[in-house]
Amino acid sequence: MNMSDKPLKNIIVMVSGGGTNLQALIDAEKDGRIKGGKITCVISSKPDAYALVRAQENGIPTRVISRKSFAKFEDYTDAIHEALYEEYADLIVLAGFMTILDEKIIKAYPYKIINVHPALIPSFCGKGYYGLKVHEEALKYGVKVSGATVHFVNEEADAGAIILQKPVEVRNDDTPEILQRRIMREAEWKILPEAVSLFCQDRIYIENGKAYIR
Ligand code: GAR
Repeated sequence: MNMSDKPLKNIIVMVSGGGTNLQALIDAEKDGRIKGGKITCVISSKPDAYALVRAQENGIPTRVISRKSFAKFEDYTDAIHEALYEEYADLIVLAGFMTILDEKIIKAYPYKIINVHPALIPSFCGKGYYGLKVHEEALKYGVKVSGATVHFVNEEADAGAIILQKPVEVRNDDTPEILQRRIMREAEWKILPEAVSLFCQDRIYIENGKAYIR
């Protein structure tokens, strides 16, 4: 059986903000660069995330599951779990998703959740390192190279098996915003669609807890 005979994998993208990584995925799908998969739903943790507009403009069904609308974290987790089940999720992509996922969800989708992080893990990652904060810390440290990482999500923040990484130069006059944009443009928007396509073609395998590409 060749790849084209296989059913397309349902890709669920989880977002919280502007959604430029979601846009990179949408563009890649349109250009035929996501082989073996299709974005079938976008789930946002915020009702006003611009990522939702991007999804709607491209005819992708959306759902909003906001932490604030649930008194208990447990109920919020159950709502996400139910949505992923209803959407027949084959791959879950965290693309600027700023809420922690409960272990229950992570355990239900082993090596099926991937995240894009705006630094070269294990630098500038872990609890509290998200969005602009990552770039502020990289500049504070004075690193000359930063970049982006796409990795599987496990129970520990930013600690799952690394799929792809791409370095990006840090310049003397960078601000966190300028560095963030360069890392998005030169790394995140490239390696996220690439990793998603590799996953959907079953080209990523795990050995001794590490991810490799065939
Ligand atoms: C991206 O830079 C992504 O790597 C980062 O948030 C931004 C979201 O932008 N994610 C994290 O920091 C997660 N630890 P986007 O909404 O435009 O894709």
